[in-house]
Amino acid sequence: MLAYRHGFHAGNHADVLKHLVLTRVLRYLGEKDKPFRYIDTHAGAGGYLLKGAQAQKTTEYREGIGRLWSRADLPPLTADYVRLVQEFNLQPGEDGQAPVLEKGMTPPLALYPGSPSIARQLMRKGDSMRLFELHPADARTLATHFGNTKTVQVLNEDGFAGLKGQVPPSPRRALVLIDPSYELVQDYGKVVASLRDAVQRFAEGVYMVWYPQVSRVEAVQLPKRLTALAPKGWLHVRLTVSQPDPQGFGLVGSGVFILNPPWPLHQELAAELPFLVDTLAQFDGASYLLEEQPA
Ligand SMILES: C[S@@+](CC[C@H](N)C(=O)[O-])C[C@H]1O[C@@H](n2cnc3c(N)ncnc32)[C@H](O)[C@@H]1O
Repeated sequence: MLAYRHGFHAGNHADVLKHLVLTRVLRYLGEKDKPFRYIDTHAGAGGYLLKGAQAQKTTEYREGIGRLWSRADLPPLTADYVRLVQEFNLQPGEDGQAPVLEKGMTPPLALYPGSPSIARQLMRKGDSMRLFELHPADARTLATHFGNTKTVQVLNEDGFAGLKGQVPPSPRRALVLIDPSYELVQDYGKVVASLRDAVQRFAEGVYMVWYPQVSRVEAVQLPKRLTALAPKGWLHVRLTVSQPDPQGFGLVGSGVFILNPPWPLHQELAAELPFLVDTLAQFDGASYLLEEQPA
C-alpha cells in the first residue's frame, strides 16, 4: 500500500532543485531539431493545489518555490524554471477564468506543476511522453489532465519494472526521470537495478535520478553506486538546506544524479548554486556539492 502523496511536498526545496535541473535538461534536448521522448518512472499527479489540504498541512512550498516567487534578481536557470511555474499558474481555474494580470505582474502562487507538466510545457511537436504512476488516485488525476494519445501515455504501473519496455525508444533520444518516494527502502536498490538494465539497452539516453538527503545509509551510498553505471560521464548536484531534527531524522536536502548530462550544465549550476543556497537556507550551514565525471 502506497502512503506517500507528493501533494504534501509539492514545491518544496527538493522540487525546486529537481525541477530547475529538469527544465534545463529538457531545454537542451529541445535545442536539436530531432524529437525526443520524456519517460517519467514516478510521475506523481502532474499538478498540485497549493491551497489544497495536502500542501496546506505541511506548507513546505513556502520554503521552496515560495522563497523564489516574487524575486526580481533570479539567476538565469532559476528564472527560467520560475517562469514555467508562473505560466502554470496562469491556467484557467475552477471557474474557467485565467488570472488577468497587468504586464510585468506576478500571478499569485496557487498551483505547482509536477514533473510531467514541466515536461509538457517544453515539449515540441513530435516529442512524446511516457508517464508511470502506481498510486491509483494520482494516476487517475494524471490521466485526466494528460489523456492517452499517440504521443502521451499514462501508465498506472510500476515504473521500475516498466522502464525496461520503454528503452530504447524510437527515435533514440530520451530523458528518463527516476524520482521515487523512497517510501520503501527497497527503492534504492531498484533505482540501481532498473538504471543498470536501462543503460545496457540504451547507453546514449540521458537519465536523471532524484534522491533524498536523509540519515540512511542507502541514501548516502546511492550517488556512489550510480557513478559505476555511467559509461559516458555523470554529474551530481546536492543542495543541503537544513539540519536533522533532534532525533536525527528529516529531509535536510536532496540530490540529482545525471547520467550523460548536457556538457555546459556543470558550469551553469556552479554559477547558480550559491544563490540557491543563500535563498533556500534554513540554517547557517546550508551548502551545495557539485561534481562531475566528464564523458
Ligand atoms: C516523488 S513522487 C513523484 C513526483 C514527480 N516526479 C514530480 O517531480 O512532480 C513519487 C511518486 O511515485 C509514485 N510511486 C511509488 N512507487 C512507484 C512505482 N513503483 N512505480 C510508479 N510510481 C510509483 C508515488 O505514488 C508518487 O506519486
